[in-house]
Amino acid sequence: MSFNKQTIRDIDVGGKTVLVRADYNVPLSSTGKITDDYRIKQSLPTIKYLLEKKAKVIIISHLGRPDGKIDKKFSLRPVADELRHLLAPNEVKFVHDCVGNDVKETASKIKNGEVLLLENLRFHKEEEDDDDIFAKQLAELADIFVQDGFGVVHRAHASTEAITKFIPSVSGLLLEKEVDTITNVMEIPKRPLVTIIGGAKIADKIELINRFIEISDFVSIGGAMANTFLKAINLDIGHSVYDKGEINLAKDILDKAHEKSTKQPFTFFLPQDAVVAKNISSLSKTRIVDWSSHVVADIENYPKKPSVDNFKIEADEMILDIGPFSSSFIAGAMQLAGTVIWNGTMGVTETPGLHGPVGPFARGTEIIVESMLGEFGNRPFSLVGGGDTVGYLESRKIIDSFDHVSTGGGASLELMAGRKLPGVEALMDKKEKARI
Ligand code: 3PG
Ligand code: MG
Repeated sequence: MSFNKQTIRDIDVGGKTVLVRADYNVPLSSTGKITDDYRIKQSLPTIKYLLEKKAKVIIISHLGRPDGKIDKKFSLRPVADELRHLLAPNEVKFVHDCVGNDVKETASKIKNGEVLLLENLRFHKEEEDDDDIFAKQLAELADIFVQDGFGVVHRAHASTEAITKFIPSVSGLLLEKEVDTITNVMEIPKRPLVTIIGGAKIADKIELINRFIEISDFVSIGGAMANTFLKAINLDIGHSVYDKGEINLAKDILDKAHEKSTKQPFTFFLPQDAVVAKNISSLSKTRIVDWSSHVVADIENYPKKPSVDNFKIEADEMILDIGPFSSSFIAGAMQLAGTVIWNGTMGVTETPGLHGPVGPFARGTEIIVESMLGEFGNRPFSLVGGGDTVGYLESRKIIDSFDHVSTGGGASLELMAGRKLPGVEALMDKKEKARI
């Protein structure tokens, strides 16, 4: 199904004042520096298109969760500086609020080719309350509203939903690309389809796991959520993080996967070995535990039978990454794949290495990434869900190597799971007569 909402290409924006909702919820360091500007860069095609068409561009966004109060550490000022750098020689102005007289006045003075970024929407409680009066104040700043903040369209907030009641509202180019790509891959993937899912909590991704089982030929689980599955099959996982309350959920998923595999060729792969350590640090002493006795864990003695400690996680050890057997197995499955959908890293990738970004618990993810990008021959179409995975890819500087890396975390999860997104639903349909 292709995107059925009007976009900025369907309307005439020349000379108009256009209010663009972006998602500039970017990670900041303790000194207020932007540590990952992927979302900002992905917002540029829409802004540049509007500037080329001689529109006046006002941008709104949220940053963090300031809970309806002004909190300087969540100011969008650093984003204005970054935009100034990226859009030069076009002028980028910044104003200290998003509604009120100062904002109205500054907005009324912007010229063609100029961009004005307003301060964090969530400094006002009304934003998250989906408040009509606040939304109307925003709408009054412009002639047209453009939703381009894909990362936030799963929220029904004033700047994603209520605002569309007061002003003609269309999609930006990023939102269109995200929805189109993700929907198409989920509905008509080039097969075989391999899906890889990591992260901490099963409950956060339960709908996605179920959908993956329905549509994939091969599903693999990694990250902390794999520990809960391993516990559910009675493996002794030592001191590993897992969720007691989700054991039954894990068992239900395993049953569902098993049932599918009795009816058609289908693999649900749980890790069979892991990198374990007693603490999480770049200096951790690590070892491989291989509970399915593939001998990889005791490579020096290969081909002899490994000693029993190589099968067992000690009480004070934690699983912190998938092991080499498991990552190679998943990499092998990818050699046959037409499409790979990946959401969540396989281990604690944020622990840096002593001499570079690849730390002691990132090897499993690395092997999977290499395989996805064609290192072993086949290069499937790769769709990467946003959120923490993007932070990892940014730190490795390989984000541009994939076919599509989503800017949305929760939003991409919900869209992949087949849910409707309120911020998309609210926009004008393609067939609706243009009101502009
Ligand atoms: C995100 O980063 O997930 C989006 O910007 C939405 O933010 P939220 O989860 O605070 O609503
Ligand atoms: Mg979020």
